[in-house]
Amino acid sequence: MSDIHPDVARVLITAEEIKAKLMEMGESITEHYRGKNPVVVCVLKGAIYVVSDLTRFIDTDVEIDFMVVSSYGTDTKSSGVVRIVKDLNTSLCDRHVLVVEDIIDTGLTLKYLLRNFAARGAASIEVAALLWKTGAQEIDIDAKWVGFEIPNEFVIGYGLDYAEKYRNLPYVGVIKQEAVGAE
Ligand code: IMP
Ligand code: MG
Repeated sequence: MSDIHPDVARVLITAEEIKAKLMEMGESITEHYRGKNPVVVCVLKGAIYVVSDLTRFIDTDVEIDFMVVSSYGTDTKSSGVVRIVKDLNTSLCDRHVLVVEDIIDTGLTLKYLLRNFAARGAASIEVAALLWKTGAQEIDIDAKWVGFEIPNEFVIGYGLDYAEKYRNLPYVGVIKQEAVGAE
């Protein structure tokens, strides 16, 4: 692996660990959805790598669609007020929907999406998230597939940004305090 980014305090999950976990999740998702042709919803931008890598481990037909949401708040804290910047192209009516998320932090963004998708008449809705922040959820949220539970710290990499930076790191790491709020 290339050198650790200078703004990363420590690596929480390596690229190899992510791959192994997504392979496991993919096998389980394959069994669950075999023959059901689900719509995999990628919530941009954070979930790009999870969707891209995870779906390659799903061994049954799926469709993939993209949604861009913007959650009002500060750079490190979500507010729960969500704006749909780009909606799905696919109708969810009577479809099995798998929402793929990078991280479930407060859970407020996801809660909004789940309610929104239910109103579109989805036949079923499940959630797969790579990361789950322990103790950070402000509301009840149920994710059928969770990759890793992590401490309640701000993380970057593998799709996750701080001020739009660091998404392309191949691992998940904790950002250095001095990199937060710099510039
Ligand atoms: P929520 O707090 O669960 O609504 O999280 C909404 C979104 O905030 C996530 O999908 C991420 O894009 C972003 N987010 C939450 N926690 C982190 C983090 O630790 N690092 C980077 N982005 C985060
Ligand atoms: Mg973000």
